[in-house]
Amino acid sequence: MTQQPIPDIRPLMSAFPTGVSVITSLAPDGVPWGMTCTSLCSVALDPPTLLVCLRRGSPTLQAVLDSGAYTINLLHQAARSTAELFASGATDRFERTRWAMQDPACGPHLVEAAHTIADCRVADVHEIGDHAVVMGAAVAVTQLSSQWPLLYGMRRYGAWAESGQDVHLSYDFIS
Ligand SMILES: Cc1cc2nc3c(=O)[nH]c(=O)nc-3n(C[C@H](O)[C@H](O)[C@H](O)COP(=O)(O)O)c2cc1C
Repeated sequence: MTQQPIPDIRPLMSAFPTGVSVITSLAPDGVPWGMTCTSLCSVALDPPTLLVCLRRGSPTLQAVLDSGAYTINLLHQAARSTAELFASGATDRFERTRWAMQDPACGPHLVEAAHTIADCRVADVHEIGDHAVVMGAAVAVTQLSSQWPLLYGMRRYGAWAESGQDVHLSYDFIS
């Protein structure tokens, strides 16, 4: 029997536009960690459960596992530079971003870049290949502003365009 080649799922997923979040966590030694993430997914409404898939070996994932908590910062349209910063591997991410600790048992809140924030406690973790699926029980959701969400698809950041009462995904991507 001939073996099927292993498919590359990246073109598939780049054609699946999403919002953009930064997952943050405070390590037990008090150091803040965070990474840009589009793998956010809702799992259940009751109990309210959200999952993110984080690369194994990531210091942000390690902080999430060690502290048992993380925060989902949903970025608004004007926060593209924050998305880029938290995907860059830069070690001074938190020196270049305004953040605050609302609750010591949760992750840092990106108070300027986020429009909505969810604080989560780790409920379950599944390691699958090069990533870990982290289920979080949402303990608080806070809306910081009514700014529109930043979008990501086709390997580009994008913005919503308003048309009358309807909202359409704009292909006037921010480049
Ligand atoms: C738009 C975008 C979405 C991303 N989504 C994820 C994700 O869902 N999971 C992941 O592990 N990495 C994701 N990344 C890559 C991480 O943000 C990047 O590797 C980051 O440097 C990891 O931080 P770390 O140094 O804490 O590991 C994404 C990058 C971009 C630009």
